[in-house]
Amino acid sequence: MAAGVDPSIEGVDSAWLERLDTLRESGAYRSYLRVRREVLSLLSLGQNRRMTGHAPSDYWSGELSRFEYMLDASPLVIEQLRHHTHNLTGLLPQHYRESLESKKTQFAEKLAALRKLDETGVWVPEARQLGGFGFDIDGELVNIDTLKFYEVLIALEQGAVLGEMREATDRKLVWEIGAGWGGFPYQFKTLCPNVTYVITDFPELFLFSATYLMAAFPEARVRFYGEVPAEETFMGWQELDFVFIPDMFHAAVRPERVDLTINMVSFQEMTTQQVETYVRRAHALDCQYLYSLNRDRSHHNRELSNVRSILSQYYWPREVPMLPVSYTKMLDANPDMPGRGYKHVVGWRRVRT
Ligand SMILES: C[S@@+](CC[C@H](N)C(=O)[O-])C[C@H]1O[C@@H](n2cnc3c(N)ncnc32)[C@H](O)[C@@H]1O
Repeated sequence: MAAGVDPSIEGVDSAWLERLDTLRESGAYRSYLRVRREVLSLLSLGQNRRMTGHAPSDYWSGELSRFEYMLDASPLVIEQLRHHTHNLTGLLPQHYRESLESKKTQFAEKLAALRKLDETGVWVPEARQLGGFGFDIDGELVNIDTLKFYEVLIALEQGAVLGEMREATDRKLVWEIGAGWGGFPYQFKTLCPNVTYVITDFPELFLFSATYLMAAFPEARVRFYGEVPAEETFMGWQELDFVFIPDMFHAAVRPERVDLTINMVSFQEMTTQQVETYVRRAHALDCQYLYSLNRDRSHHNRELSNVRSILSQYYWPREVPMLPVSYTKMLDANPDMPGRGYKHVVGWRRVRT
């Protein structure tokens, strides 16, 4: 019997047991084990803080409980990690069956429309690793997430922010609040390798994002909050590729520079106080640009006033027009109503607030 296998499954196909053993030794699963260790210690470190004003919004408390199983994931789950990110996005591989031909055509048309807006070539397809899925268009995987991230990269390019990051000769620091499963950091880091990418999220989310990114970039140098004393979190930051800071400790660390703060489809789900704290903090850290792709407020969120008005107190908001429909819709849908839908906003730091 293969080492490490539960004796109660003795007698099952030996090829399957061997596969399980191989997966247990894979880089992705080993990364997951490191991430889980860090997440568990962050959760216990943050327990008291969560009880004193750092709790997730009502909406996110419900969402987090849906994927508690990720704290005890089998190597088979990690091998197909992308199939489990539906917990965050609602997207599943079966939405992209090749038999869904008319839907595939819609995706191809939307990709073609975005390519026309892309003057510098910022397209990055879905990676095939860890169960990556999507319609196969000209040999590349395309799904709603990849099209959304493509929009964001085009908006950052048009907003005169991305060029600086792509061509950087001195190291830049980008801070994403609420990075979900890590798909956008994967794309950004692919296009802009000379960037230290910092992610703030609930610790539970690192089970997805950190595992995914460490598998995508096996050579990446990674630091989690708590691995070194808090005041040393950003020591030697130029040598790090990814830094993971839990939401409760966002204000406990201070990088010497932040060049760009990013938030997508996330401020809209927070409370007014949480959004304001993050935007004020970016401003206080002298971060020049704050990019947001959000609705002013999610329909179900009663704890938030309005994302753009909070942002406008600290940053000059410049909306970058994209397609007539939000990223969630295809081109044949009704255009967004004025003032509704998702807005690509590149904020320029205000000198006075
Ligand atoms: C719908 S997901 C979007 C993920 C990713 N930005 C994307 O577009 O694929 C919302 C993200 O915001 C995070 N989030 C929600 N409330 C947060 C808070 N108070 N602080 C940090 N992250 C938060 C969630 O954990 C999740 O990663």
